[in-house]
Amino acid sequence: MTDRTMIRIDAVSKFYGIYKALDAVSLTIGEGEFFSLLGPSGCGKTTLLRSIAGFETPTSGEIHIDGVPSVMLPPNRRPTNMVFQSYAIFPHLDVAENVAYGLKRLRLSREDEARRVGDALEQVRLAGLGKRQAHELSGGQRQRVALARALVMRPKVLLLDEPLSALDKKLREEMQVELRQLQKAVGITFILVTHDQYEALALSDRIAVMFGGKIAQVATPKEIYQHPRTRKVADFLGGMNFLSGRILGEQAGTVSVDAARFGAVNLGKPPGFTAADGRVTLGIRPERLRLLWDDERAPHELSGRLENRAYFGEVTHLSVGVEGLEAPLSMVETNSYGADDLPIGAEIRLAYDPDAFVLLAEDPPVSRV
Ligand SMILES: Nc1ncnc2c1ncn2[C@@H]1O[C@H](COP(=O)(O)OP(=O)(O)O)[C@@H](O)[C@H]1O
Ligand SMILES: [Mg+2]
Repeated sequence: MTDRTMIRIDAVSKFYGIYKALDAVSLTIGEGEFFSLLGPSGCGKTTLLRSIAGFETPTSGEIHIDGVPSVMLPPNRRPTNMVFQSYAIFPHLDVAENVAYGLKRLRLSREDEARRVGDALEQVRLAGLGKRQAHELSGGQRQRVALARALVMRPKVLLLDEPLSALDKKLREEMQVELRQLQKAVGITFILVTHDQYEALALSDRIAVMFGGKIAQVATPKEIYQHPRTRKVADFLGGMNFLSGRILGEQAGTVSVDAARFGAVNLGKPPGFTAADGRVTLGIRPERLRLLWDDERAPHELSGRLENRAYFGEVTHLSVGVEGLEAPLSMVETNSYGADDLPIGAEIRLAYDPDAFVLLAEDPPVSRV
């Protein structure tokens, strides 16, 4: 990754009739970055990716690719290449012919073409399978052919629209690791569209979370998981316990909040923080609450009653009712100590770290017309 900007998106909006699929999206993506667009179905991810590729023209706004204003350029004049959600590889062509397909218009010599196809197949670990027929390939191999077909064009930016969503879980996880390794090896910018938060967290250098045609937050995986800006971002990226708190005082960079049964906590102030009526929403992740066994003590504890339990093999999800809290608390415990055997109704104590709370801002209202 370098400090150079590869893609700059300035106030891009896209209307379909009166429906606003993209609402003033601005974003910069660096050279060599693995960047993900994450959000629920229909939030505008594909529309944004296709706008970068040149398959859609924004209604307004500009997109610079490698410094070149590009919204009026056709796809083949952009240094981008796209791997589609349904990676349609040609069934009547063999692997090498599939990969060579886009090269035809470059009119390379036979040797140059063969060399580039060979290089691309090697990059996706299909070296030696060039003569294999498309129908003889496994799902993972077809996916790799689709990647090779894009890489052979030597794009500066590879655009991937849910490329792994058709694969089953195990294969998807293997391909995720490969995709990350491939990106680091070829060193070009990857922009991945996904609705799978774990995929985005595991693969990306940075993630943009989108809702309703707007970018809600852009940050590294750790930052976005640990410091989601709004309730919706927090909720989309894993479990979160929400509670309402009352502001006790404000300092330069921090706020002290009365967090109901959790007592007074000091929190970092998010950018642009305001709390007109003195009420704020706080969040704490389920794994930041910890069961206390027997006579184990912790500096900060609460007691409650087990209301529900769900077994997931390696972990158990617990739902714990605490007097004075609006909703039961969600907790996640690994199953090495017997959380999976706790009887419903059991009295339990839990430990928490006051520093694990985050202050959440209001979500902007969504209006798409
Ligand atoms: N060609 C189109 N005509 C009309 N509406 C469209 C078109 N393409 C996408 N949309 C709408 O724009 C919204 C965003 O779509 P899309 O970018 O495909 O979302 P995502 O990829 O996040 O699921 C959706 O509500 C979709 O129905
Ligand atoms: Mg899509």
